[in-house]
Amino acid sequence: MATEATVVEIDRERIRELTEREEARLDERTSASRAMYERARKTLSGGVASSYQVRDPWPIYLDGGAGAKVWDVDGNELLDFHNGFGSMVQGHANPAIGKAIAERYPLGTHFAAPTEDGVVVAEELARRWGLPKWRYTNSGSEATMDAIRIARAATGRETIVKIFGSYHGHHDYVMVSIGVPYDRIGLRDDLESLPYGGGIPQVVADLTIPVPFNDTPAMERRIERLIEEGRKPACVIMEAAMMNLGVVLPEPGYLEAVRELTRKHDIILIFDEVKTGLCIAAGGATERFGVEPDMVTLAKTLGGGLPSGAIGGTEEVFDIVEKGGVYQVGTYNGNPLTMAAARASLLDVLTPEAYEHLDALNERILAGCQKVIDDHRLPGYAVGVGAKGCVTFSPTKIVDYETYKENQDGELADLAWLYNMNRGVFMTPGREEEWTLSVVHSLEDCDAFVAAFEEMASDLTA
Ligand SMILES: Cc1ncc(COP(=O)(O)O)c(C=O)c1O
Repeated sequence: MATEATVVEIDRERIRELTEREEARLDERTSASRAMYERARKTLSGGVASSYQVRDPWPIYLDGGAGAKVWDVDGNELLDFHNGFGSMVQGHANPAIGKAIAERYPLGTHFAAPTEDGVVVAEELARRWGLPKWRYTNSGSEATMDAIRIARAATGRETIVKIFGSYHGHHDYVMVSIGVPYDRIGLRDDLESLPYGGGIPQVVADLTIPVPFNDTPAMERRIERLIEEGRKPACVIMEAAMMNLGVVLPEPGYLEAVRELTRKHDIILIFDEVKTGLCIAAGGATERFGVEPDMVTLAKTLGGGLPSGAIGGTEEVFDIVEKGGVYQVGTYNGNPLTMAAARASLLDVLTPEAYEHLDALNERILAGCQKVIDDHRLPGYAVGVGAKGCVTFSPTKIVDYETYKENQDGELADLAWLYNMNRGVFMTPGREEEWTLSVVHSLEDCDAFVAAFEEMASDLTA
């Protein structure tokens, strides 16, 4: 990482000029998206299916995808590094998954009764995570919601602890203390429980206690205070590597210390692996970092492009589910079509060789981006793991939400997105996101990403 003393001062006026130029270029290239938006917004609220798809002045509507590429409705061909918010590690229209879906369809796609594919998927997940018991959901939000409910039922406690700035889905329990301005974070030992958007009761938010990432002493102090107040937490829910502030890796020893602390106090440790699971190793962050949680939550990559989610846990945790002490339910849980796709994905696509390939790709793209940063002395660094990575525009290392809010150069992140979109690179929108590589990406695809970044760096420092 370039040190603060060696980085160039980026001219803010230059960022504005380039942003305007690139916005105009993107508007010009996406007139069919604009027309689609005008039509869509009449009936589809905001013209989109989810508020995370909103974009000013209009969203980019896609037509299709194959392998590592997608096409928008204007016919622009784009290399996909967005990959459905990190769901499509298998690549689009993967033939092995297509075959499994095609073979399942004529046999019926929904019974709300278990099928063998669901058993095979659970066996494979148990093997990969070393956790014996599994259940399914239809999304990451459902997985974290049910995991927390199970943890509450298993412990008979209500309070939960999460990491400030982490996203765990859109239900009330965890839509707390995400994406707040720097001056609303609160004191480090007493971070604020802030509802994220309207419609979330403060009484529910107050049950969710945020603590800073990468700081076990702060977590310990907060947990001890909660115990003193008679509010011992049921669980700590966290990502082992944060994937919603770009990528923030755990500092050495951090996860081990959290594991020790939660074990000492008999608090259930949930690794939310909705983003990391199946993306950064065959057995996700649990395998990559070698720390065993009591429960994990999966989604995104699990379904190979179909809606999916899963919860894994120990025998002790799942005892309460099996005895009927908590209802883990859902009409579409373990849907046969999804399970057929997940089975093919796990057994035929996300193989040990696939993870070696993803690691090689990420090494290439990270090294390429870091070289651009070093050559141009940009304030930033490239960081990643497995299929995931990003350029973090910050003069200092980001280790938690506070350092992220204090240091991230959001305008540069926005400009990088525009450069990508105008140079054939479909990248995740949002300052907090990262790239996701797929097993069908090539080293040349990584070089194309780096080339777009190089162009921005040259224009910025010319
Ligand atoms: C870590 C994490 N957990 C949970 C979720 C929620 O998943 P879903 O959008 O499938 O409900 C997300 C979504 O981005 C996530 O990143």
